[in-house]
Amino acid sequence: MKISFEGKVALITGAGSGIGAATARLIAAGGGQVAVVGIPEAGVSAVADEINGEGGQAISIPTDVSDSKQVEESVEKTVERFGKLDIAVASAGIQMHREDVDLHRLPEEAWDRTHNVNYRGVMLTCKYALAQMVEQGSGSIAIISSITGISGRSANVSYMSGKTGLLGLNRHIAVHYAKHGIRCNAVLPGALELTPNHDRHLDPDGRAKLMNETIPMGRLGTPEDIAPTVAFLCSDQSRYATGGEFVVDGGITSI
Ligand SMILES: NC(=O)c1ccc[n+]([C@@H]2O[C@H](COP(=O)([O-])OP(=O)(O)OC[C@H]3O[C@@H](n4cnc5c(N)ncnc54)[C@H](O)[C@@H]3O)[C@@H](O)[C@H]2O)c1
Repeated sequence: MKISFEGKVALITGAGSGIGAATARLIAAGGGQVAVVGIPEAGVSAVADEINGEGGQAISIPTDVSDSKQVEESVEKTVERFGKLDIAVASAGIQMHREDVDLHRLPEEAWDRTHNVNYRGVMLTCKYALAQMVEQGSGSIAIISSITGISGRSANVSYMSGKTGLLGLNRHIAVHYAKHGIRCNAVLPGALELTPNHDRHLDPDGRAKLMNETIPMGRLGTPEDIAPTVAFLCSDQSRYATGGEFVVDGGITSI
């Protein structure tokens, strides 16, 4: 099976690094036109430059996903440049490893900041992507949740509760937008090697050691391990999949 993105336009948030960047590269390599959306500006413009340098088609749109206006404009700019929107991937996210712990004394800014990006930011991305997709009568959305969305193990309470909430958003879109020809699926990555998302982890070496010993496949994942599943779910090959929750975790949630 060959997956082609010829003639497809994708908007990907958090695409300046990690899973978002890896997905942008895959979709562009498959012939898709890609809006590389997110902050910081240097990250998204570097990924778009790289794609264009390799003969692909990309634009960068610096966007803070927690800002409604900026998200709306990112969809407008994508449609202005490429004429439509077939695919939206909501990958932007943060994890406040140090602050987002101990609910009984949680700094409430940690809750607000995490939910503004990880939960509200995904809702806004879906909202404005859907507005365009409903008009077109077609589209596919991939929401990047996490295995913390289906387990209570993570110490980061705002993070894991937001990732759980995204599964509800995924179901809502799947059920209520199928009639518009729009699909939505959630990808639940397991623990990945360090990315900017984890740069302030309390104990990166201890985490890596523990994960390498615990994960049945014996290693942490990489963005490149996750991106093919995301790209598949955005492609026409997954045409009957909607509302699904796709765990990609080296087997850890099966223990
Ligand atoms: N890395 C992991 O172990 C892991 C595991 C499960 C789920 N995830 C989820 O995968 C998604 C992608 O994370 P990643 O692993 O690729 O890490 P990452 O840090 O490389 O990617 C997240 C991207 O989002 C961007 N971003 C942060 N705040 C933003 C904002 N307000 N507006 C726009 N962009 C913003 C970051 O700059 C970064 O480019 C996140 O939602 C994360 O929660 C990651």
